[in-house]
Amino acid sequence: MSALLRVAGLRKRFGGLVATDDVSFEVSAGEIVGLIGPNGAGKTTLFNQLAGLIRPDAGRIEVGGVDLTGMAPHRVCGQGVVKTFQNVASFADMTVLENATVGGLARAGLDEARARGLRALQRVGLAGREHVLAADLSLPEKARLEIARALATGPRLMLLDEAMATLTHHEQREVVDLVRALRDEGITFLVIEHHMKTIMSMCERVLVLNFGRLIAQGTPAQVSRDPAVISAYLGSSVPEADHA
Ligand SMILES: Nc1ncnc2c1ncn2[C@@H]1O[C@H](COP(=O)(O)OP(=O)(O)O)[C@@H](O)[C@H]1O
Ligand SMILES: [Mg+2]
Repeated sequence: MSALLRVAGLRKRFGGLVATDDVSFEVSAGEIVGLIGPNGAGKTTLFNQLAGLIRPDAGRIEVGGVDLTGMAPHRVCGQGVVKTFQNVASFADMTVLENATVGGLARAGLDEARARGLRALQRVGLAGREHVLAADLSLPEKARLEIARALATGPRLMLLDEAMATLTHHEQREVVDLVRALRDEGITFLVIEHHMKTIMSMCERVLVLNFGRLIAQGTPAQVSRDPAVISAYLGSSVPEADHA
């Protein structure tokens, strides 16, 4: 498999704090890769740089051989990279279809954007809910809408930032199944998620950040046994041990 995403030496400083510190890794096309680490480790900051929302101080981001470093978000989106937001960010007073159409507008005019929105809603299981206000959706439906909005941009790399945080274990399983199906259709995923069970069942490979540095990477079983990872989580929320 060829690398779809190449990140090299990525660095971002906020005043005296180094939020991502010389981070380098690759993601192959068709992978589902988890990104974990304690609160404040720099996960969202890393995603924001990949999506063009924050300009790195140093380093390089390449997707499909194209250098995206410092590119504006709409151009990054045009290269097929899209990010969902940590706290469900749908426009509450807009309908489900209007929300999904916003995703489509990143790549097309209104009619085509609406068609893209409709297709994305069908794909995530929200057909029939098009005219409901986003505010009136259940939590699992809101998570699906976030994915639909991202899907409507026509991505090849989706960055999910705790898209499942508000869901029960059973509801998370359903989103995991959806992500796996979308991967089988050709989309590559990088996923921030703190439920270790969900990461375990979803990802072939996991990257671990701590204080902005990449301290481990490997299979979920490997990283959950890694002494550096275990000590990084000491004193914060230790991920549930799960070697099933
Ligand atoms: N815009 C910002 N300005 C200043 N500090 C920030 C900003 N965004 C994030 N940080 C800090 O950078 C560190 C990493 O944050 P973040 O990437 O949100 O971590 P995570 O997503 O892993 O919880 C934290 O210490 C956070 O307070
Ligand atoms: Mg975060």
